[in-house]
Amino acid sequence: MCGIVGAVASRDIVPVLIEGLKRLEYRGYDSCGVAVFNDGLKRARSVRRVHDLDTQIRETGFAGTTGISHTRWATHGAPVTVNAHPHFSRDAVAVVHNGIIENYEEIRADLRAAGYEFESQTDTEVIAHLVNHLYKGDLLMAVQAAVTQLRGAYAIAVFCQDEPHRVVGARYGSPMVVGLGDGENFVASDAMALAGTTDRILYLEDGDAVDVRQTQVTVYDRNSAKVEREVRIVKAQDSGADLGPYRHYMQKEIFEQPRAIADTLEGVAAVTPELFGDDAAAVFAHIDSVLILACGTSYYAGLTAKYWLEAIAKLPTQVEIASEYRYRETVPNPRTLVVLISQSGETADTLAALKHAQSLGMSETLAICNAPTSAMVRQTKLTYLTRAGVEIGVASTKAFTTQLAALFLLTLTFAKLRGHLSEAAEAAELRHLRHLPVALQSVLSLEPQIIAWADKFAHKEHALFLGRGSHFPIALEGALKLKEISYIHAEAYAAGELKHGPLALVTDQMPVVTIAPNDALLEKLKSNIQEVRARGGQLFVFADADTHIQSSDGIFVIRMPENYGALSPILHVVPLQLLAYHCALALGNDVDKPRNLAKSVTVE
Ligand code: G6P
Repeated sequence: MCGIVGAVASRDIVPVLIEGLKRLEYRGYDSCGVAVFNDGLKRARSVRRVHDLDTQIRETGFAGTTGISHTRWATHGAPVTVNAHPHFSRDAVAVVHNGIIENYEEIRADLRAAGYEFESQTDTEVIAHLVNHLYKGDLLMAVQAAVTQLRGAYAIAVFCQDEPHRVVGARYGSPMVVGLGDGENFVASDAMALAGTTDRILYLEDGDAVDVRQTQVTVYDRNSAKVEREVRIVKAQDSGADLGPYRHYMQKEIFEQPRAIADTLEGVAAVTPELFGDDAAAVFAHIDSVLILACGTSYYAGLTAKYWLEAIAKLPTQVEIASEYRYRETVPNPRTLVVLISQSGETADTLAALKHAQSLGMSETLAICNAPTSAMVRQTKLTYLTRAGVEIGVASTKAFTTQLAALFLLTLTFAKLRGHLSEAAEAAELRHLRHLPVALQSVLSLEPQIIAWADKFAHKEHALFLGRGSHFPIALEGALKLKEISYIHAEAYAAGELKHGPLALVTDQMPVVTIAPNDALLEKLKSNIQEVRARGGQLFVFADADTHIQSSDGIFVIRMPENYGALSPILHVVPLQLLAYHCALALGNDVDKPRNLAKSVTVE
């Protein structure tokens, strides 16, 4: 999603501004731009890739010592050049912005009345004109005055014609960091954008503004009082940029899952609350229920965990889509553990849901997150870091399975605390967890069979996914993967719901993907398979080896390993990831950057 880089230096900072955008590219965007001061405000924008922007500016000798750059993911206004950032106000003020300004129409009307002309459909352009309108010789004061009028979420970086050696940043609801260099300083929407330039990072808090100059950085809080924010050393994570033998990051990340799970479980010798933080024992002792908040794939990890937490730990668990929870009236319970699940730790809706829960007095919070320095990790009491490594493909894969591994550990921890896990059972479950990477390898070796299925699938317009119990969320995740990257319309149902509606859709043109673990619901599922077959539907079944489901007319079977007990969902999602990947490949889609989607959704 949108990305920001800003810099003040004594050297030409265009390479830093462009390199920063390249590092943020994987998040998804549809246009990009850069502006510098060079005898006036200069700007270049592109509705193609950062690479094209780079080529464009190299050809024109674009350079400057102060500047800002941006990748845009369209919210207000189509992805066309005039809507791309930076936005200018009368060639005097330049702004880049992440987030959404909710009251931009009112502000725009006032500014139009004051004589400002608008050239874009964006909410961002109002910020440029507003800062210009309020400017009385001090950019920081103009920005501080402007943001008091903004409603919504923003991270902005601004510079101006009259004070060309200064960039002012401000944030509320969208992340922003400051990077400290030697005789040069930076702002960015993520420390990753500055990797290779500086590792000395300070994280702005909501309501902060920052005055960035070549040799000095000053942070002000929401009351305009000077504040110190801790400087942290943030080592550049391995960007995972090397594709190795793989064609796409998504494929690479699918195949990295055994390693990612092993890393996530590294050092786990026993089931203990301390795995989740030093305070976890005290917190867990008085917890009587769990509320999981997340979006997208992370939400489906939460749904799977509900089956585990209730069945194994006997702990009442609710799972909510973060964007629903934040606006819904609920009954808060201070003894509830609020669990946030997020790959990026920056998803706007999940962060807002966390804040909402905290405002209701629910202070026992745990983040299960893949980004150690993210806002979510900083804002929760407890943390479990998944160690999937950087995930670049927009469609989440290894982040999901590592989240499940962490959630299973959480389940075992509560089961033990609540007297539902004997020592022998604990040892057996840990053995199972540690064996997962090997079991995953054997599932990955099914790829050739899945490629053959993808050829049959790729030209269908619709697909149904069926699962039961803890594999129902896996069906949801499988359908999501197919939608995201192959653009085939896919729906998932709990198999028992088939006859309450979706059966009406079943024809020989509707492939029905069925997840068939050898669990207590197998016989029920076999009946559902027959219901589909009787209507001429074609079934594509991922069946555990010990289910004895055979391929026959209209039923295609890929044989999974033997049933893997409670952890079976982690194995069953992998062939669904591969199926979506190979369908997208067969259709020639941009697998890692599917249309309209973003990796890190930092707007509401
Ligand atoms: C976006 C991504 C999804 C992800 C979701 C939640 O939609 O494309 O892959 O599941 O955001 O992101 P999070 O970082 O909070 O897990």
